[in-house]
Amino acid sequence: MKWQTKAYILRQLSQLPMGKQLYLLLQKMAGSNRPLPNRDFARINELLDMIQQAGQTAQQATFFEIGSGWHPYAPLGCYLAGAEKIITVDVNPWMTLKSAKQCIAAAKDHLPEMAHLMGIKESLITKRYQKIDQNALRLDLLLKSMNTEYRYPADASDTKQEDHSIDFVISSNVLEHIPLQILKSISTESMRILKPGGLAVHRFNPGDHYANHDQSITTANFLQYPEQDWKPYNESLAYHNRLRSSQYSQLFNEAGFTSLIEETHIDTDALEALQQKFIQPDSMFSQFSTEDLATDYMWYMGIKPTALSEIGQCDNMRTPKNQIDSNK
Ligand SMILES: C[S@@+](CC[C@H](N)C(=O)[O-])C[C@H]1O[C@@H](n2cnc3c(N)ncnc32)[C@H](O)[C@@H]1O
Repeated sequence: MKWQTKAYILRQLSQLPMGKQLYLLLQKMAGSNRPLPNRDFARINELLDMIQQAGQTAQQATFFEIGSGWHPYAPLGCYLAGAEKIITVDVNPWMTLKSAKQCIAAAKDHLPEMAHLMGIKESLITKRYQKIDQNALRLDLLLKSMNTEYRYPADASDTKQEDHSIDFVISSNVLEHIPLQILKSISTESMRILKPGGLAVHRFNPGDHYANHDQSITTANFLQYPEQDWKPYNESLAYHNRLRSSQYSQLFNEAGFTSLIEETHIDTDALEALQQKFIQPDSMFSQFSTEDLATDYMWYMGIKPTALSEIGQCDNMRTPKNQIDSNK
């Protein structure tokens, strides 16, 4: 589908009173919100792996997930890894009993691989999996049986959570959908609720998402437009902030985090389009490097300092690294 057609449909839906429900229905019909266990568990494993790289563990930890979405694969991964409590929040009530059950059922075939990736005995992960009440008749009860509390509508910029009560704030494919001012509040709020030494661990996609469904454009396409021209394509149901990876680093830094991982992935097609000047970025992007403009994934992990003298570095800290690999 041409990206402008998709943008037009989303814009019309965004403006309807029942637009969100209709959007959910269309997603179900198109199968675009079905669980993709290979992809989704690989994503949560990346977050858990980053935590391990900081020398910390999910065992008995309290997680706070920003942006639950449709399927609780992140809470499930954290639970299977031994988390004591997972709070997952979303401004939209996308998750249902059915979608959660689908996700949990789909995880069954992935337990050996998850045990391997997490460095946990398969028997232990299977035991945890079997404790999940898959016959539960209510979503809250199903999630409770995997140590998870789902809060909605709930905004990660105002969590009502006690100070210093969380070990890890995590998100996957969420931050790019949040406006800069709210992201600033979220990073300040994350700093408040994290325990000293706690981690903010995020993976997100700064590229143009319309490129996922329209082969004629690259993930740098949306950089051509000045704000007022981009606005009609950027309605609430598909909002993208167009922030570059360097801006995320800056905002976490300004909130007080010490960065441990800032890893990016570059879309080689977007890089070429920018280098060959097939894409001319708007002047609002003139201060960014071509690599920053062509970045289509970022992994960020920051630590809340305990005291200035104790600011930690990962044992196996990954240095900022640009991987040029179009298969990501
Ligand atoms: C693209 S979805 C990703 C969902 C899920 N993490 C996944 O990977 O499938 C982004 C989610 O973030 C949620 N979201 C956006 N702003 C938020 C905020 N301020 N607080 C909590 N959730 C938010 C949206 O409602 C949406 O469900």
